[in-house]
Amino acid sequence: MPHCPLPALLLCFLTLSTGGEEVEEQEVRVYSLQRGVWTIPSTSVYLRYNFPVDLNPVTHLTVCYRIRLEKFADYNIHLSYATSEKDANSLLLYNMATQMLAYVNNLQQTLVTTEPLEIYPETWNHFCHVLEPGAYTLYWQGKASASPRVHQGLSIVLHGDITQLNFWDRVLSAAEVEDLAACRINGRGNVFSLDTADVKMMGDVLLDIVRHNELCRSLPHYMLLPERRSVSASLVQCHLFNASMSVPGSIQDNDYLKQVLLPFMDNCSSTPWKLWLGVTDQAEEGVWVDMNVKKFVEFQNFVSPFPYGGSVENCAALFPDGTWGDAKCSIKKCSSCEFKPSEFLRLRGLCFEEEQQTRFRVADYVNGRPLLRGFYDLLIMWDNENAQWLLRNTANTTLASLSPSDLEEYPLGQKIWLVRDLLCGSHAGTSLNLSVSPCLGHHFMCRSGECIAHQHRCNMRYECSDGSDEDDCDIVNLPSGYRRHLTPPGTDSSSLIITPNITINRIMAVDERDMTVTIEFQVKLTWLDERLSFSHLESTNKGTVLSREDVKKIWTPLYRLSNLKGGHLQLLEETVRITTARHPKHPDFNNVKMDLVYPGGDNELIITQDYIASFTCPFEFYTYPFDIHVCTLNLCLPSTYENFVELSEEMRDVTFTGPQELTMFSVLNVHYGPDSGKYHLSVEFELHCHGSAIVLSLFIPSLFLLAISWSSLFVKWEAFSSRLMVSVSALLVFYTLRFTLIGSMPMTLAIKLIDIWFFFIISVLSVNIIIHIFIQEEFPNDEAFKKKPLFVRPAGGAVILTPESIQPSHPKFITIYRRIILPGLIVTFNIIFWLTLLLLR
Ligand SMILES: *[C@@H]1O[C@H](CO)[C@@H](O)[C@H](O)[C@H]1NC(C)=O
Ligand SMILES: *[C@@H]1O[C@H](CO)[C@@H](O)[C@H](O)[C@H]1NC(C)=O
Ligand SMILES: *[C@@H]1O[C@H](CO)[C@@H](O)[C@H](O)[C@H]1NC(C)=O
Ligand SMILES: *[C@@H]1O[C@H](CO)[C@@H](O)[C@H](O)[C@H]1NC(C)=O
Ligand SMILES: *[C@@H]1O[C@H](CO)[C@@H](O)[C@H](O)[C@H]1NC(C)=O
Repeated sequence: MPHCPLPALLLCFLTLSTGGEEVEEQEVRVYSLQRGVWTIPSTSVYLRYNFPVDLNPVTHLTVCYRIRLEKFADYNIHLSYATSEKDANSLLLYNMATQMLAYVNNLQQTLVTTEPLEIYPETWNHFCHVLEPGAYTLYWQGKASASPRVHQGLSIVLHGDITQLNFWDRVLSAAEVEDLAACRINGRGNVFSLDTADVKMMGDVLLDIVRHNELCRSLPHYMLLPERRSVSASLVQCHLFNASMSVPGSIQDNDYLKQVLLPFMDNCSSTPWKLWLGVTDQAEEGVWVDMNVKKFVEFQNFVSPFPYGGSVENCAALFPDGTWGDAKCSIKKCSSCEFKPSEFLRLRGLCFEEEQQTRFRVADYVNGRPLLRGFYDLLIMWDNENAQWLLRNTANTTLASLSPSDLEEYPLGQKIWLVRDLLCGSHAGTSLNLSVSPCLGHHFMCRSGECIAHQHRCNMRYECSDGSDEDDCDIVNLPSGYRRHLTPPGTDSSSLIITPNITINRIMAVDERDMTVTIEFQVKLTWLDERLSFSHLESTNKGTVLSREDVKKIWTPLYRLSNLKGGHLQLLEETVRITTARHPKHPDFNNVKMDLVYPGGDNELIITQDYIASFTCPFEFYTYPFDIHVCTLNLCLPSTYENFVELSEEMRDVTFTGPQELTMFSVLNVHYGPDSGKYHLSVEFELHCHGSAIVLSLFIPSLFLLAISWSSLFVKWEAFSSRLMVSVSALLVFYTLRFTLIGSMPMTLAIKLIDIWFFFIISVLSVNIIIHIFIQEEFPNDEAFKKKPLFVRPAGGAVILTPESIQPSHPKFITIYRRIILPGLIVTFNIIFWLTLLLLR
């Protein structure tokens, strides 16, 4: 730990010296302990004061001060109070980046602040440390923000300004602290005040006397860009710096801008119009608006005759005397940007340990051009001689250099730098991609240095002015050592789980003769590959489709469809997509590549394969045409997957999306069969045959033919040929009917119900014919009947000719057969037939 005297603001029991001029009640001394750009070890700069009272042991004490850091060091000591060489840390107040640390009575304290103290270089920070027995409160910018906790610590140097350092031997109230911080009061400490004490200035300390309330009125931070640009180019350049184009809001700001211009007076323009201001009256003549925020500007410093350019001269420039004049916007002049202390640039591509170390701000000028100054010890400065930008550390070692293609260009955006000294593992002479931009992790940096939101990356539209947001849109990032033939690991060293989802899109054809069904279907398999990571995922419904090249690089599951007809499978389409965009990792602060990275363990890959294929199906025709066929589609994983890959049994899904009613069938009950397991899936579906068509084309016509054949039994017995003709025709027509139907029916040797139907009808029709023929034998035939002699009976002289038996009586059998046996047989057969059909289905 620092022992007195260390370079810093040290308050020690040492020499009594004079330092500082007398100040009035409302004035304060501002001691400037600036070191400039370089860290030169010999130039120690500090203040020293011999304390009149012993503050040790501390009881009630308030220490307040206001400091402005010049840069960040690992540790910035604000002040230290030592009672002796041994007790060097009676009071030591310092910060590490955004964290405030303290030693009180030689005890290390960590002040756990509710949120990080955003201590930026070059802005005033007001601190009050209020100590009372058992309690310690830290106030930053007037607000209580910490409670103490014991912690480890180290020491280093303060670069910056200090003022208003005061010690009180009492506890200041929160309200008092707030008033001090807000410059409402200028309280002086009763134990010590930097404004009244005799302070010895060591080294190159500058002393300035200002009114205390000026400390709270911050001047805008203007930086002049000494290259000549048009107004629009200036605006773009300021935006690349994450700054706005200067628009002085008051006469003080305007005077300050005039001072900023002063050193560059001869270099900016040969005319009196020296410096572009960020105002324009382009939209409406005479109405001057701030180009950065498109708002009307209240403060204007035109002096007659300006503005005089009407609608031709729509931009305004600063004259050396501070007044404004209008000019044509396309003329090239110097410009100035206004930087906010809380906004900075970030250098990516090096190997910093802390995020703060990437921060850079535009401050000072070196060799006539703005200097980009790191929060810690890096600088990016212009080298006039070699016309290049240099990355240096504050010990004046050149680490890398950049020769810009355009000398007016700043080293913003992604550039390839030449390494000049060992830098983050790169040797001198190699090149290194570095980027400087205001972009944070939730942004993507265009190569030009613009920041765009991540969702605009690779969205098929140009958002960066250089189009670099549509470059390098590869989705899959393979780790080194990725082997696509190795299956991805499952979670907890178990097998990889693949979730199947099979969709039958439609049944294209059912061939009953060949016993095949032709199906258009989709196999969708979902899995996780933890080894991979992805970029540019879309969180919208359509997801992200991997390119063919990407698909070729990664592992995809294999499977076989086992009951294909002829082994033939037609692949219509194959896509691999990712439909989620879960848990993106923001780019590391050192990474030049600013893409979000999506872990493969959280975003599933989905392979979708659309096929047309014919499957064999064991058709059941017993109850034809009312039969139900159960067909399957079998999918199995290769045997090499055993113990590595398995199909999910809980999450699997199967759907049928096609029309349920086909011409001859209804498709019903699509589901996974009971034999589906971890390595095998069988999708079952039922084809219910539509019998109605066959009923109309076979059964009802058969019954009609039976009826015709039956009706022939009622024809006059004399008309034998007609009877025979009708019944024989019925048989022939039925045969034709059967023949045509048989052609469309599958060939099976097993007896089907329909064969019984055919047999029955044919039997009945044949029996009818036989009956016609045999009954004919029993009757005299027509010819014989005609040749019989007629009997003549005398009856009153008339002769009446009468055949012996004009109407022969039917045999009893025929009457019984046609009235009872045949209808009874048909009805009984039908009842039995249809009942059997119903029962067997
Ligand atoms: C600076 O960058 C931050 C973060 O990228 C942004 O929010 C802010 O608007 C920028 N400021 C200017 C003046 O462009
Ligand atoms: C102005 O220009 C001259 C000559 O071009 C150059 O020597 C000088 O350094 C420049 N001044 C500034 C402040 O850039
Ligand atoms: C830094 O080094 C350069 C040479 O590399 C030298 O010309 C320059 O004077 C040095 N600057 C300081 C401040 O030491
Ligand atoms: C710098 O990055 C670009 C892509 O952004 C790459 O093409 C190039 O090879 C990189 N150069 C070096 C030296 O790493
Ligand atoms: C399976 O796919 C179908 C159609 O693509 C879809 O409607 C269904 O939701 C999917 N099921 C699951 C579990 O993802």
